[in-house]
Amino acid sequence: MKSIATKFLLPVLVLAAIFMAVDVYRDYRDTKREAAELVDRQAAMALAFDLAIRSYVAEEIRPAVERLVAPGEFCPETMSTSFVARSIFDKVHEDFPDYIIKFSSDDPRNPNNQAGPDELRMIQFFNDRPDTKKWSGEIDLDGRPHIAHFNARRMKERCLRCHGDPADAPASLVERYGPAAGFHRPVGEVVALDTVAIPMSKIEAGIRTGSRRHAISMGVACALLVILIAVVFRFVVARRLAMMRTHFERIAGQPDASTMQPAEVRGDDEISALTRSFNTMVGKVRDAYASLEQRVRDQTADLRKANEGLQREVHDRTRAEEVSQQASDEARTSAERATRAAEDMERLNSAMMGREERVLEMKEEVNTLLAELGRARKYEHV
Ligand code: HEC
Repeated sequence: MKSIATKFLLPVLVLAAIFMAVDVYRDYRDTKREAAELVDRQAAMALAFDLAIRSYVAEEIRPAVERLVAPGEFCPETMSTSFVARSIFDKVHEDFPDYIIKFSSDDPRNPNNQAGPDELRMIQFFNDRPDTKKWSGEIDLDGRPHIAHFNARRMKERCLRCHGDPADAPASLVERYGPAAGFHRPVGEVVALDTVAIPMSKIEAGIRTGSRRHAISMGVACALLVILIAVVFRFVVARRLAMMRTHFERIAGQPDASTMQPAEVRGDDEISALTRSFNTMVGKVRDAYASLEQRVRDQTADLRKANEGLQREVHDRTRAEEVSQQASDEARTSAERATRAAEDMERLNSAMMGREERVLEMKEEVNTLLAELGRARKYEHV
């Protein structure tokens, strides 16, 4: 038998577990989304810095320096947007070693700018979509998840001075970087990516640790809640029900309903109402038992009375039977006596008849004798 507490607490426990799981999962998901948004904003800002530096160099510094130096002279530290941007990023990189901030190219002059396989794929991606200039999102770089912002760099006419034919390029440039890399790039082709990528692994690890802590504290809170509910349930419901059950069982074990006792009523809730109803029922059962006893007594009395009447009747009938038996016995005796009397009468009668005949014979004899004597007949009509 499962106790009511188990039946009640099991769903509570399951609900608490579901609630906890949902809460922890939602918290993890929301934190991750917020972190991703934040990181995305960071990457976007870094890229904006990158582009701003480049355009500042191209629009402000380079023309200013060109005015100062001899025509055709090239000083990358001040005139190459890529050089300036990369140099600044190299410094930033010291503080953010796991961040990727670079100008990745498939054919770089500076080997530091060599695009990795994932960046090469992105270059291909932009080459396949001539109208697409930017892409941002989650991407695996060097096998690790990153939030990245890419800005496609396409070769333009004005770039050809330094990226077209090496013969057109400033001599100092060719001297410094050589005549091979970064030249003969076709106009319109994506030659590089402004790349800002922030790794998510550390952030995700932090989020997971936070989530674990959250899960532990939620688990403890849920466990405490369930324990609290269990304790309250025990005192408010289970214990009182057990008391009532003991009371019921005690009453059920009693053979006599008249000794049934009402249960103790505490508080004013459903169980108290149930106990009160039970007490009302006990009262009614006791009344019913009492009236039943009375009826049994009455009926027993009636039965006794009826029994006595019956016995009397049986007695009377037995008497009557005896009387009638006697009467019939007497009648039989009378009949026998009558028969005997009749027989006696018969005998007497026949005796009498013989005597009559004898008298007649004797009278005849007398008459005959008288006639012989000649005398008159003494008896007439013989
Ligand atoms: C005045 C010369 C000059 C001009 C004009 C120029 N670049 Fe460059 N570019 C350079 C130099 C020098 C570097 C190498 C920088 C370094 O050391 O990081 C370079 C690097 C690059 C790189 C990085 C890959 C690599 O080769 O290291 C790309 C991509 C690039 N330039 C594209 C462009 C584009 C696109 C334009 C036109 C909008 C342009 N460049 C205009 C001189 C120039």
